[in-house]
Parts: sequence; structure tokens; C-alpha cells
Amino acid sequence: MDRNIIITGGAGFIGSHVVRLFVNKYPEYRIICVDKLTYAGNLANLADLEQRPNFVFVKADICDLDKMRSLMKEYNVDSIIHLAAESHVDRSIKDPFTFARTNVMGTLSLLQAAKEHWDTLPEKYDGKLFYHISTDEVYGALELTHPEGIDAPFTTKASSGKNHEAYGDEFFVETTAYNPHSPYSASKASSDHFVRAYHDTYGMPTIVTNCSNNYGPYQFPEKLIPLFINNIRHRKPLPVYGKGENVRDWLYVEDHARAIDVIFHKGKVAETYNIGGFNEWKNIDIIRTIISTVDRLLGRAEGEDLDLITYVTDRAGHDLRYAIDSRKLQKELGWEPSLQFEEGIERTVRWYLDNQEWMDNVTSGDYLKYYEEMYKDR
Ligand code: NAD
Ligand code: TYD
Repeated sequence: MDRNIIITGGAGFIGSHVVRLFVNKYPEYRIICVDKLTYAGNLANLADLEQRPNFVFVKADICDLDKMRSLMKEYNVDSIIHLAAESHVDRSIKDPFTFARTNVMGTLSLLQAAKEHWDTLPEKYDGKLFYHISTDEVYGALELTHPEGIDAPFTTKASSGKNHEAYGDEFFVETTAYNPHSPYSASKASSDHFVRAYHDTYGMPTIVTNCSNNYGPYQFPEKLIPLFINNIRHRKPLPVYGKGENVRDWLYVEDHARAIDVIFHKGKVAETYNIGGFNEWKNIDIIRTIISTVDRLLGRAEGEDLDLITYVTDRAGHDLRYAIDSRKLQKELGWEPSLQFEEGIERTVRWYLDNQEWMDNVTSGDYLKYYEEMYKDR
């Protein structure tokens, strides 16, 4: 094998798309997917890859330093693409300690295990990379200076549809100061600092990327888009936090995976790249789009389910607006989103409606029992 790459969190939403892309596109790379299979990890997300000769699955906790050390050695790992994390803001509000453990201590264990292994090699850090996947949420929240929206100053294919608006004048750039508000974003910010510290202190080759909200297949239905698609299907209430006026910048998950591929191969060590498609949406607008798409695809009268919208108490510390400026990545490495947003939403809604069994499994928790049984002797 030309390379031995650990991808952590590969049984989760984004990780499964990254693993799939790498296993299919690079048969000459061994892809070692390391995942604890928490409630968010699901081997069904990788079922099509099980028999592939360049794919290995290891059930492990990234906080287990000894296990990370032995994996580095066993596979003589040259690169890590690190996605494993606790990722849901609402859970972090209820249980911040789990977020500090996995996101901070887990990242630190991986960094240390990589350092120790690479330090034993004659070539040391040559040809090595620790690539850390982070989020735009570490930058905090932007103002909503244009609540009605203005023409976005920059557009990409992702934002070329009906909505090409920006809701403020500022965007997150790579040099924006960190200002996290939720326990989730605070833990991700802390992990980003550790990654950069391993570069600055020990010379470890690292890259950090900060991406905007992702959407697409295999996302756990606690997040806005899959949760609402499933609720509409079952005609359950749609809990809209606050007034539904918060703004998020949405990117199709496969476009994020493509960006990770480009940055892994062409990115400059020690750099940060922001990933996003200049595709801002107010929650309430995206929710209306989802309702009309689900209704149409289910043969219901379009908009029939609008009355499922239920305004509920706002999320504590709810960040008002996220908006990524990804021009550095576009200019320096030539990446841009491939999918227009309305196409992406159509594809996503179809996927969840066509994969009701996947949805039923993850909402019933049956899959957790299945994997406990499968891995009880390992
Ligand atoms: P996810 O919650 O769907 O998946 C996380 C995966 O990590 C799961 O498979 C889970 O089993 C695994 N995991 C959790 N704790 C672990 C541990 N201690 N040891 C080993 N594995 C563990 O998350 P996601 O949405 O796919 O996000 C992946 C990464 O991308 C995260 O680092 C997240 O911060 C970042 N990110 C996500 C988004 C988004 O919109 N979802 C946007 C930008 C960045
Ligand atoms: P989410 O998918 O949790 O992503 P994040 O908080 O990381 O941006 O939420 C996206 C937006 O949708 C966010 O502004 C919170 C809002 N939201 C709701 O209004 N209702 C819900 O039930 C959920 C899960 C989210």
C-alpha cells in the first residue's frame, strides 16, 4: 500500500462520505477507519465498503492512548484525518463533559500517539500529516445586519439557486479570532489549539479546516434537516427554535468530502482553510423548502404540512449567524462546490424517504444492540 491513513469518526455522517471517497478513489491507500460507534456511529453507513481490500474497520475510542499508540505502530500510519467528535450542540448543553473528553482529550491522545510513532522513524515527520476537521462554530456568531437579506457579495454553484442572499456584512475568514459560545464549539476550539500547538512546539505537520453546516445522506436525525424530514413524513411537530431567524451556511456533505481530499493532497502544512459555499439560509426558509419538497415527493398537496411548524423555546446561547468565506480554498487549491443547493436538498430528501429502514433503525436504537452483540468478543 502506498499510504496507511487513519480516518477517525468514519462511521459517522461526514466521516462515512470521506471514507467512501478515499476507499473508492485510492485503491492504493489502506484506509483504517477508527470509530467508537457511539450513538452517532453506524456501520450501516459503510456497508458497501465492508469487503474492500483497502478498508479496515477498528472499533476503538480515540481517548484510549495505548490503543492509538498500537494502531499507529501496527499499520505504520503516515496520516490521520481526524473527524471523530461529539458533534451535536444541544447534547453539549446537557452534557459538556463528554464533549471535553472526546473532542479535547481524544484529539490530544491521537496527536500524542502520532508524535510518538513518527518520532521513532528515521524520516520523522517527512511525508506525514495530521489533518484535523473542525467547524466554523469556533469563530462564534456573526451579526444579522441585513435581516431581510441582500445580494451575496460572492456566490458559488452551491448558492446559484433561488436564494443567493447574505444576511450580514461580515464573514468568517481564516484569521477571525476564536470566540466559541457553546460547550461543543468550545471543545472544538480547544482541540484546534492543541493541533496547532503540536505543530508549533514539535514541528508536527498539521492542517486544520473549518467547515460550515453540512447536509446530505447518513446524518443522524437529531440535526435539523434529517429530523425535520422524518417528522414531516410522520406528521410530527417541527420544533423551530426561537423565531427561526438564525442563519446557517449549508454545504452538501460530498462537497465537503471533496474539499478534504483536495486539502489532504494539496494543502500547505500549518495552514487553515475555511470550507463553505456562500450559501446562507434562515432556518425558517430552509424548513419551508424541506416541507414543500417532502410533500411533493410524497404526493401530498404542496405546503400541506406547513402547520407542523411549532415555535419552541430558543436554544440557550443560540448563535445567530454563521457565514464562511472560502475564497482562500477556492483560489489557492481550486476547490469549489459541485452541487447547487436546491438539487442537494432534493437529493437529500429523496435519500431519507427512500431509506426509511436506515431511519427506523437509528431512531429505534436497534442498531446499537446489533453492534454490541457483534463486537462483544473483540
Ligand atoms: P457525527 O456525530 O455524525 O459522527 C461522529 C463520529 O465519531 C461517530 O461515528 C462516532 O461514533 C465517532 N466518535 C465519537 N466519539 C468517539 C470516540 N471517543 N472515539 C472514536 N470515535 C468516536 O459527526 P459529523 O457531523 O460527521 O462530524 C464529523 C466532524 O466534522 C466533527 O469533528 C465535527 O465537529 C466536524 N464538523 C461537522 C459539521 C456538520 O455540519 N456536521 C460541520 C463542520 C465540521
Ligand atoms: P443543527 O442541525 O443542530 O446544527 P448547528 O446547531 O450545529 O448549526 O441546527 C441547525 C439550526 O437549526 C440551528 O440554528 C438550530 C436550529 N434547530 C431548530 O430550530 N430545531 C431543531 O429541532 C434543531 C435540531 C435545530
